Amino acid sequence: MDKERKLIIAGNWKMNKTVNESIDLANGLVRELKDIKEVDIAICPPFTALSEVSKSIIDSNIRLGAQNMSQNNYGAHTGEIAAGMLKELSTRYVILGHSERREYQRESNELIAAKSKTAHEAGLKPIVCVGEQLDERETGKTEEIVSSQVRGSLEGLTEEQMLGTVIAYEPVWAIGTGKTATSEQAQEVHAFIRKLLSEIFNTETANAVRIQYGGSVKPDNARELMSQKDVDGALVGGASLDLRSFSELIKNSI
Ligand code: PGA
Repeated sequence: MDKERKLIIAGNWKMNKTVNESIDLANGLVRELKDIKEVDIAICPPFTALSEVSKSIIDSNIRLGAQNMSQNNYGAHTGEIAAGMLKELSTRYVILGHSERREYQRESNELIAAKSKTAHEAGLKPIVCVGEQLDERETGKTEEIVSSQVRGSLEGLTEEQMLGTVIAYEPVWAIGTGKTATSEQAQEVHAFIRKLLSEIFNTETANAVRIQYGGSVKPDNARELMSQKDVDGALVGGASLDLRSFSELIKNSI
């Protein structure tokens, strides 16, 4: 598939996989995906498995991502993980503002913006998640919600930092539900986000930033979604937990 921007597909393992299970899956993916050059591939295991998975993928084309981090760099923040600690394990990406964290941990756009800044300062590339709830879509508020999340969560980033940021558009009603947005629905919001980026930054930056789609992406719908002009990859939950489905999903996307 001929794409304007290189696809980036990341597996978000969420709170699944022990250390041993993580190593098994990572080793399997290294084997299965070793010839893939057309896609940037990342896996985001739980914190406890980052160190071991980092070793498994060290000489491969798979990059390491974390699922969250603190906005602070060190100190008295019990239970938190700092960007520098992730960097030490050769982590490249960090998912920020996932809808589950926005909902259950009450993460605000301001907090996500602070985390994004901290991530960049440490040399990590944030994957900043945005997306509307079902009732917001049904009442015609999708653009309003996505716009305030994009503006708020990227507030204060320089143009250079924006270029190193990935946005993940994940309609909350499509996450883990088996309900995927149609490729037209996804394309429409992706184009809207790109237009916003050109207003906040400039057209050149907007055209370079990669926007992933997330929400029930599976091996059989990946190609159709990835073929949309402004869809530059996927953030994958459920289908990333299984060696065969994640490998197939990636191969089908090319
Ligand atoms: P899903 O999750 O693929 O299981 O819908 C996507 C996500 O939450 O990132």
